[in-house]
Amino acid sequence: MYSFQELSEKFNKEFDHPHFPESPNTLYAPGEYFLNIGGKRIRPVMCLLGNELFSDIHTDAYQLANAVELFHNFTLVHDDMMDAASLRRGKTTVHIKYGDNTALLVGDVMMIRAYEYIQKIQPTHLSKILQIFNSTAKEVCEGQQLDMDFEKMEKVSLDAYIEMITLKTSVLLAASLVMGAIIGGASENNCKQLYEFGKKIGIAYQIQDDYLDAFGDAALFGKEPGGDIKQNKKTFLLIHALEVANEQQKVDLYELMKSETPDKVEKVLAIFKACKVDAWAEELKAKYMNEAFAHLENIAVVEKRKQPIIDLAHYLMNRTK
Ligand code: IPE
Ligand code: IPE
Ligand code: MG
Ligand code: MG
Ligand code: MG
Repeated sequence: MYSFQELSEKFNKEFDHPHFPESPNTLYAPGEYFLNIGGKRIRPVMCLLGNELFSDIHTDAYQLANAVELFHNFTLVHDDMMDAASLRRGKTTVHIKYGDNTALLVGDVMMIRAYEYIQKIQPTHLSKILQIFNSTAKEVCEGQQLDMDFEKMEKVSLDAYIEMITLKTSVLLAASLVMGAIIGGASENNCKQLYEFGKKIGIAYQIQDDYLDAFGDAALFGKEPGGDIKQNKKTFLLIHALEVANEQQKVDLYELMKSETPDKVEKVLAIFKACKVDAWAEELKAKYMNEAFAHLENIAVVEKRKQPIIDLAHYLMNRTK
């Protein structure tokens, strides 16, 4: 068995080659640029971990891992356009560097490459994998649309936020584990528990992402600080602040959401801090982590096989980038 760390290193080595032909260079060079500026590669490693939970890693898990990482990068290229983000992984985003039209096509062609990797999987598992991959991909689109719809709404409930981040982020983490598990020969019940584990971990992952967007160390996090605040994203930070703020702070928050003043981020952050959103972040993350671990316990394999996944969960929750 490999550790989480070893699998990360193995995947990174395996993924480190061109994924596109050379020509037309105006399309594929931007694609390679984006794939080469890094990323934590957690989803592909989750495919490998899902497989390894049940049996030795099959080469199909690597095909799947490639596909999932390509698909994820596609969503990021389009997401940066939708979020008007200038920085990703500490580098200029594709749409800023190469223009919107190229960014659209780079995303499209990444998704098509993802399907080419999936196509290489042995026929016995292909239909099931495709079914999960496709329904997950649709859910990501649904979540991304809700995320944008919420920008225009004054107020969003915590439940609606959790539903939105489940769709845009956590289902892909859950599906990565489960598709790997299917290749590893997992039973239906074990897949169900693993999916729920992945979903809860994924929710905590996006909560951490939203926290870091506001309070992270920009040099490490690699995205423009306060990007979500500028876009009026309805994160749990804002939802919680609006719940506990005094009348004046509420009025200020609603005013700030309508404005585009240069000190908008600074002012919103000050209210977030006064509303102790960091303690709330810890509480929320802990809640979803605990729920996740309860599902992991229900998976019927010898305990020592679960260790790499436990290590992954801890890494995800303590990340600073
Ligand atoms: C960013 O995903 C988008 C979210 C769903 C939070 P990651 O934080 O996994 O991005 P990379 O691939 O490591 O850059
Ligand atoms: C992105 O959520 C989720 C997807 C790309 C599907 P965010 O918009 O919060 O991700 P970042 O912060 O830009 O990475
Ligand atoms: Mg974004
Ligand atoms: Mg977004
Ligand atoms: Mg974010």
